[in-house]
Amino acid sequence: MNIKTVEESSNYIKEKIQQTPEVGIILGSGLGELADKLSEKKIIKYSDVPNLPTSTVKGHAGQFVFGKLNEKNVVMMQGRFHYYEGNKMESLALPIYIMKSIGIKKLIVTNAAGGVNTSFKPGDLMIIEDHINFAGINPLIGKNCDEMGPRFPDMSNAYDKDMVEETRKIADKIGVDVVKGIYVMMSGPNYETPAEIKMIRLLGGDAVGMSTVPEVIAANHCSIKVIGISCITNMAAGILDKPLDHKEVMETSNKVKDKFTRLVTAII
Ligand code: HPA
Repeated sequence: MNIKTVEESSNYIKEKIQQTPEVGIILGSGLGELADKLSEKKIIKYSDVPNLPTSTVKGHAGQFVFGKLNEKNVVMMQGRFHYYEGNKMESLALPIYIMKSIGIKKLIVTNAAGGVNTSFKPGDLMIIEDHINFAGINPLIGKNCDEMGPRFPDMSNAYDKDMVEETRKIADKIGVDVVKGIYVMMSGPNYETPAEIKMIRLLGGDAVGMSTVPEVIAANHCSIKVIGISCITNMAAGILDKPLDHKEVMETSNKVKDKFTRLVTAII
């Protein structure tokens, strides 16, 4: 990644916004409505930003939404870029570098995920404690962007431990039940086989999904602190005797969006 690429994209955005956001929030499948809650909204479509690809998945709008939530200046990504869409590695890191260059210090990443831990149930919110990159990809492959971070970034506090603890306390205080666990990324776009889910469980995974890990790697690379929240939309393949589909994922995330909204708003 070349810093000029990042600057070209972030300069385009900086010219269009009045306030500098402190926090970035990536909204996962079916969770995009949180952006509607912002005041003093300013929308910038990905397709208008130089160097960004366009987002294609149903339930993902494909735009940055700048505004205020709880008096804090934030930027939300309504829709994200997935590896399974055929995006290049760089395209997965670029939005994070853009947000870094605009000024964010913290990032809240959210996603829809399958529950691998059998004590979970659809509708649970899981605070991500750590991840396993099982997708065989990495957004930092290629020439290192030295201006963003080192060639070999540390990932030992990938999901900031203090913020995990703080998030759990906040959830307690506002009466939102949460679970904690390890997120495993598979490339997708197919859902996993039951055998793969057994393997993930053996490896220590609690939830599985097709996103988030590239963004968290890029965020750690450029020293942005990360909080991750998975919405467990379904039990992973083979746990219940029924097929998986995107409709169920969207329906469950739709059902939990109130508690999800309350939690994220309280964290901000
Ligand atoms: N597997 C992978 N990704 C997902 C799932 C799943 O079961 N549910 C939502 N996203």
